[in-house]
Amino acid sequence: MIGKKIEDGFNKQLNAELYAAYLYFAIGAWFEEQNLEGFAAWMKAQAFEEMSHAMRFYNHILERGGKIELMTIDKPEVTWKTPLEAFGAAYEHEQKVTKMINDLVDLAREERDNAALIGLLHWFVAEQIEEEEQTLKAVQKIEMLGSDKQALYILNQEFATRPLIATAAILNPAATPDE
Ligand code: FEO
Repeated sequence: MIGKKIEDGFNKQLNAELYAAYLYFAIGAWFEEQNLEGFAAWMKAQAFEEMSHAMRFYNHILERGGKIELMTIDKPEVTWKTPLEAFGAAYEHEQKVTKMINDLVDLAREERDNAALIGLLHWFVAEQIEEEEQTLKAVQKIEMLGSDKQALYILNQEFATRPLIATAAILNPAATPDE
């Protein structure tokens, strides 16, 4: 059975992962408006991945007899000045999520909840390294291009190749460990 403090913390993180999906959808929509469909596709793929993160918390809470408490999802920003600023917002958000995951690790240690720690949070600690890396690399690549619009357009096309994850992998991500 899941403890109340962990249940509350995981319900908050479930909300934060859904907010992340909202943020990536918002950035994706903004890129569509800029006719940078490759970056938009990448952001939408990331939004679906965030939903799979939310489902990891959802499934874990229910598997351990807990209660899902869905909360209001904050409204994200909807406009950015430049592609660099938009990817910068994604990187900044991933750093916040890493801190939240680290706080949950501390809580699980205090509560001596190994199921939470090893069964769920270890995966997220590793995942956040990847999440920060991919958004930071995008920021650095865009920075490198400076004001070269043609190069930016080509990079945008490269980003279009990121595949969307399947619905089954969103709903049951633990069965697809690379999601
Ligand atoms: Fe769910 Fe991008 O962290």
